[in-house]
Amino acid sequence: MSGDQGFHGTLIHSPSPEAITILEDTLIIVSDRGVITRCDANISRDTLDRHLAQYAPHIQSTAVKRLPTYSFLTPGFVDTHNHAPQYPQRGLGQGLHILDWLSQLTFPNEAKFASPTYAHRMYSRAIDTFLQQGTTTASYYGSLHGEATKILATLCHAKGQRALVGKCNMNRNSPAYYSDASATESLTVTEDFLSHVHALDPGGDLVRPILTPRFAISCTDDLLTGLGHLAEANPDLPIQTHFNEAQQEIDATLSLFPASNEADLYDHFRLLTPRTILAHCTIMDTEHEYDVLKGRGCGVAHCPIANTTIGGGFMAAPIRRFLDRGINVGLGTDSGGGFSSSILDAIRQAIVVSNAREAQSDGNEKSLSLDEVFYLATLGGAKVCGLGEKIGSFEVGKELDAMIVRPNLVLGEDSEGKEQVLRDDDGVMTPVEVGDDIRTVWEKWLVSGNDKNIAEVYVKGRRVKG
Ligand code: GUN
Ligand code: FE
Repeated sequence: MSGDQGFHGTLIHSPSPEAITILEDTLIIVSDRGVITRCDANISRDTLDRHLAQYAPHIQSTAVKRLPTYSFLTPGFVDTHNHAPQYPQRGLGQGLHILDWLSQLTFPNEAKFASPTYAHRMYSRAIDTFLQQGTTTASYYGSLHGEATKILATLCHAKGQRALVGKCNMNRNSPAYYSDASATESLTVTEDFLSHVHALDPGGDLVRPILTPRFAISCTDDLLTGLGHLAEANPDLPIQTHFNEAQQEIDATLSLFPASNEADLYDHFRLLTPRTILAHCTIMDTEHEYDVLKGRGCGVAHCPIANTTIGGGFMAAPIRRFLDRGINVGLGTDSGGGFSSSILDAIRQAIVVSNAREAQSDGNEKSLSLDEVFYLATLGGAKVCGLGEKIGSFEVGKELDAMIVRPNLVLGEDSEGKEQVLRDDDGVMTPVEVGDDIRTVWEKWLVSGNDKNIAEVYVKGRRVKG
């Protein structure tokens, strides 16, 4: 028998931002390499075995997971911006302006990752937590340490999380105890890290390296120049940095460089490419900056929780404007900068922030729908990470990164009006009532569920939770 497996029941995904697609009575088959080989609709439970015998005789009936009513399979979440070493400081220091938050809280915390033992312990728990929350792909910032960041990449690979992992480059405007010694040293450690990840996962099947200048404030000209050259020499290498996050940060940045805006600054150093992920992008004052981002094909990591907690202000990023211009957007948790590493929380906050943006713009920038935000959390994020052809939706030829969602409370009543409890597990999600359609269940999960409702998680077909 092959190692192929199948799932039968309801599938929900977002092939396009406009509306989710619900596929009921669907059979999806996944090869032992994690690739979706069939996706057949309109197969009732009664005809499933017959269908398998005819179209997939190499699969045992027992290798097909039958999803119960009110459960569904949906793509795993993509977190396009997550500082892995900030896992133990999530939620702390809220209200501090960004540069104060970095110096008072974040640099002392990240410096602890100089210890490989500490890094191994903390990263191991961080990845477990993120997988538990349904994050099947993350674009990670590591700390500045080469060794710790290798540990992060190795653990992602071993635990089966898809990831972009970057050694954080920072050689100025940070304390001596937490700074790369020089541009040369920063680049040498980066190249050594790239070699490590290429040896770990030569095809980049699961884990890939990403260039990670922290932000221009913490990088000298020669470091940014060197990273731009590295990116040019390695055309597949993705790049991530923070971009137009907060006024305090923008003012400090522009005082250090001759450029009059951050788009021109990073473009000058050739760091804006179709593989570049720009975190935050909350303050976009000129059409020119949109034009540069669009022209270079950069993606935006929208981090609505961090943007409304740290940083100094309620910074509502203009997501509708990015989408209207065809700029790819995904969701990010930021981990430390916000209070949560859950993409479910980021989804809710993205709705809140987009409502604020609509009000601030006198209705010109229409708020985002739940369907649109779900798209950002899945296929939108996959595109931002350069993985849009590989994951993010259920299509034959893509790999299966997915989760099984299960409401914890399902209630009905009998003919005499007496309560019937069909399911009562641990959890707080809005109760599902018998007769709810599957879209309602999906909405109830997105707005009120949590990781307890994420029963199983799969990356590249491998079960990593449940
Ligand atoms: N800008 C530079 N470093 C950071 C960071 O760690 N978090 C956030 N939110 N912004 C940054
Ligand atoms: Fe960040």
